[in-house]
Amino acid sequence: MSMLELQDVRYTYHTKAQAVEALRGVSAVFEPAKLYAVVGSSGSGKTTLLSLLAGLDVPESGEIRFRGKSTADMDRDRYRFEHVSVIYQNFNLFAHLSALENVAYPLYLRGIPKKRAEEQAAQCLVSVGIGEDRYGRLPGMLSGGEQQRVAIARALASNAELVLADEPTGNLDITNGEQVVSILLRLAHEEGRCVIIVTHDLEIAAEADEILMMRDGVTERGQ
Ligand SMILES: Nc1ncnc2c1ncn2[C@@H]1O[C@H](COP(=O)(O)OP(=O)(O)OP(=O)(O)O)[C@@H](O)[C@H]1O
Ligand SMILES: [Mg+2]
Repeated sequence: MSMLELQDVRYTYHTKAQAVEALRGVSAVFEPAKLYAVVGSSGSGKTTLLSLLAGLDVPESGEIRFRGKSTADMDRDRYRFEHVSVIYQNFNLFAHLSALENVAYPLYLRGIPKKRAEEQAAQCLVSVGIGEDRYGRLPGMLSGGEQQRVAIARALASNAELVLADEPTGNLDITNGEQVVSILLRLAHEEGRCVIIVTHDLEIAAEADEILMMRDGVTERGQ
């Protein structure tokens, strides 16, 4: 079964001065165990699409189905908590928590005892190439690439089936960017998660299993 299905999804921002039709009828299917790249020019609706998939907002019309069930019939907070993990361009790590605690955080929230949460978090950090000497550091004491990998480790720890990332490599150099993409590919291919990233980098998009082109609030499927 597909992970996500969108049918004629529309979304309009209403500002005082005008109504902006950000999504004008998006239909798409996202499968588990695949990495998708959403590309398209600035303002084409990529971030809007991601925020609807993340359950941060709801479509104005049309439908999003998660594992066959309309998200309109689900509790939105619960949907986010149980199924979705979001990785942000600016990492969004908790500044006052160590690298290890940042990754363990979603596990604490799920009631996993501290020691076990930290053991699992450490495994996730190892798998993204963050060594033990970094565990105790606050995000501000890590490089951008390291912070991004900690953010990915946190997504790993959360066990969410759906991993969404808006420009996850936007603040990274080529080497770190490639490393992040290979980790995200692994998340999809080895763990069966559905990973959807927005990227402006066409070389990174080329590594995805499928490319979704956005133009003016609608999608055109790439290769
Ligand atoms: N909060 C908002 N209020 C009003 N209009 C908005 C708001 N956020 C986005 N828009 C508009 O909606 C459209 C889609 O924006 P969106 O952020 O989804 O684009 P994007 O493809 O992510 O662009 P970028 O590549 O620049 O991040 C744009 O025309 C934008 O100006
Ligand atoms: Mg955007």
